[in-house]
Amino acid sequence: MPATPLIMDVDTGVDDALALLLALSSPEVELVGVSTVAGNVPLPRTTDNTLRLLQWAERADVPVYAGAERPLVRSAVAAADVHGATGLGAAYLPEARTSPAGDGVEFLLSILQARPGEVTLVATGPLTNLAQAEARVPGVLRRARQVVIMGGAVRVPGNVAPTAEFNFYADPHAARQVLASAAELVLVGLDVTEQVGLEQAALQAHAGVRAAFCRAACEPVIAFKSAHYGFAGMHLHDPVALGAALWPQLFRTQRLWLDVETAGDLTAGQLVVDRRALASDQKPQGRPVACAMAVERARFLELFAERVLTP
Ligand code: RIB
Ligand code: CA
Repeated sequence: MPATPLIMDVDTGVDDALALLLALSSPEVELVGVSTVAGNVPLPRTTDNTLRLLQWAERADVPVYAGAERPLVRSAVAAADVHGATGLGAAYLPEARTSPAGDGVEFLLSILQARPGEVTLVATGPLTNLAQAEARVPGVLRRARQVVIMGGAVRVPGNVAPTAEFNFYADPHAARQVLASAAELVLVGLDVTEQVGLEQAALQAHAGVRAAFCRAACEPVIAFKSAHYGFAGMHLHDPVALGAALWPQLFRTQRLWLDVETAGDLTAGQLVVDRRALASDQKPQGRPVACAMAVERARFLELFAERVLTP
């Protein structure tokens, strides 16, 4: 089976870094480019972190493109309290010898138009780049083979706010515009990513430089989770989203009518699910999207450990 061309749009951050390592170690896909966006930390850092990670993984051949440095409308937020000031936790990676290859939005436009129907796009940060691409060339996201998004929360509470997950909270206008696009979307929200916790003990059980990097990177996230939730581990949000593209057979999805709140003081970024039993001539709010609602956790963690934690 030939590898599927994959592009990732990331706000590297710790779990984005783990997702990139998973992509580089997975024969099902060929990572052909990465666009970066402001999110966990500001754009210069998310971009530098991505360049450093790819170089450290001996894959500096994968081009990195710097995208949006701020959300469409709202002011920028960050999550350095979770991911650390650099965005890579307590891990140190040597300075990148490469620079961004160009603009992130231009990259998305060019590859999706050049290779219609071929490329899987996995977005693990705020959706600003994707929304800007769709605004410039309406319908361009539909040219992706599949768009898998880490974001939102269907039945579970938010993380950064009572009803909002971080990526949707950081840029709710972009999230709304991307969900409204005609793209073939799979939404991987907290309902399923919070089912997959990587425990500190599991990280400590592995030897080798990659496991050592993951331990250092995950350190502040685990400290945050331990202090606030009593969980000595971290939820693999972004690797799970990539997993939905790599191993769809491990996931159960449900088609739900979705939209995103953009204006609420308390609810901006909330995923709004329309479950009303409407009359046949009434249209639900938003559009139908495949939402991941369950995952075979043990098998996912086994594959993740094999491909990322094992030398
Ligand atoms: O809510 C979790 C998401 O927000 C993950 O993508 C994490 O990296 C942060 O971007
Ligand atoms: Ca992320």
